[in-house]
Amino acid sequence: MDTLTGGEPGLDPASLLAALPDPIIALDRHGAVRFVNPAAEQFLGIGAPALRGAQLTDFIVASSPLFALVEAVWRDGGSIAEYDVLLEGPRLPPRPVTIQGALAGEGADLLVLSLHERAIAEQMDRQFAHRDAARSMIAMAAMLAHEVKNPLSGIRGAAQLLEQDADDDGRQLTQLICDETDRIVALVDRMEAFSDHQPLSRGAVNIHEVLERVRRIAQSGFARHVRFAEDYDPSLPPVHGNRDLLVQVFLNLIKNAAEAVPATGGEIVLATAYRHGRRLAPAGGGQPLQVPLLVSITDNGAGIPEELKSHLFDPFVTTKRNGTGLGLALVAKVIGDHGGIIEFDSQPRRTVFRVFLPVVPRDSRQDSIGDERRNDTGS
Ligand SMILES: Nc1ncnc2c1ncn2[C@@H]1O[C@H](COP(=O)(O)OP(=O)(O)O)[C@@H](O)[C@H]1O
Ligand SMILES: [Mg+2]
Repeated sequence: MDTLTGGEPGLDPASLLAALPDPIIALDRHGAVRFVNPAAEQFLGIGAPALRGAQLTDFIVASSPLFALVEAVWRDGGSIAEYDVLLEGPRLPPRPVTIQGALAGEGADLLVLSLHERAIAEQMDRQFAHRDAARSMIAMAAMLAHEVKNPLSGIRGAAQLLEQDADDDGRQLTQLICDETDRIVALVDRMEAFSDHQPLSRGAVNIHEVLERVRRIAQSGFARHVRFAEDYDPSLPPVHGNRDLLVQVFLNLIKNAAEAVPATGGEIVLATAYRHGRRLAPAGGGQPLQVPLLVSITDNGAGIPEELKSHLFDPFVTTKRNGTGLGLALVAKVIGDHGGIIEFDSQPRRTVFRVFLPVVPRDSRQDSIGDERRNDTGS
């Protein structure tokens, strides 16, 4: 195959397949791997040299529906797709994918499999929905701050004047006015955090120091009843971020987790890891940003109600009697400002929030060498 239908003579098909995000695997009639693109190497967790010539059953459990599909394609020809297949192997955590198989090559002596990771596509959709939520949030917060706060201070001032001449009953009412206006001002203040258009002031942040600080705050207060476990990768490079805002983000996430777990036997797992190849195309176009640093917060609570999932990051979404529904909206805004990604997976007894963050860019590490610490917990 040295020419390509629809392409120029001499164009190298392998280099085109290398650009695809979906894993592509070609098998011969004996079930041996003849070609993999880089996405397939990454998916299987094994390099092309080790894959070439090997049986696919060495990497994917033989009982997988994938092999039934392969057999059917060899038998019937044509192209067959199967949705929601769970793939699993010695180095492959179970993952739902859509598989498509078709014959290729001269004499149809090759079978090409393309795998499509359904979960990732869905997560991306969710991610973009969150960006819109954050944007409408910003506009609304700016409006509220303008239109609500000024009149409120007038109302409060007037109530205080009335209070001077009021009897006991009247004073109870003016007190009520003051308390309620204070409550609304506090709410608007919290919202104002969203209309902040300042560019982030960023530095090298030791993410484990942030997490340990938040854990200590949690354990001495709202999460006293919860057992914490840590699974940190101490070799992580520093996050390129704003430390105070990141403290706020993880405080909000851990508070939600603590509020979700049962009164006894509640458990929260904090974990960090380095994940190659997590990229996010910036909203306005331009170079995709690498966001390889993963922080996950897992709790064993009841899970997120199904009907909440599609708009979980919207403001004022809450199931709590005294909830504001602003916690996750702020989290989405701050992570977005960092160029990061947030996702969640939730089922009863296991809810995971995953935050992907950028690391300090290589060319600016020089400047921060003095305070560049490794991300060990230091405690
Ligand atoms: N870890 C979690 N487990 C279960 N539900 C959660 C979790 N985190 C968030 N939620 C749900 O999302 C809602 C919104 O959370 P948030 O924006 O922090 O607002 P609030 O905590 O004030 O309700 C919560 O009311 C809860 O129903
Ligand atoms: Mg909350």
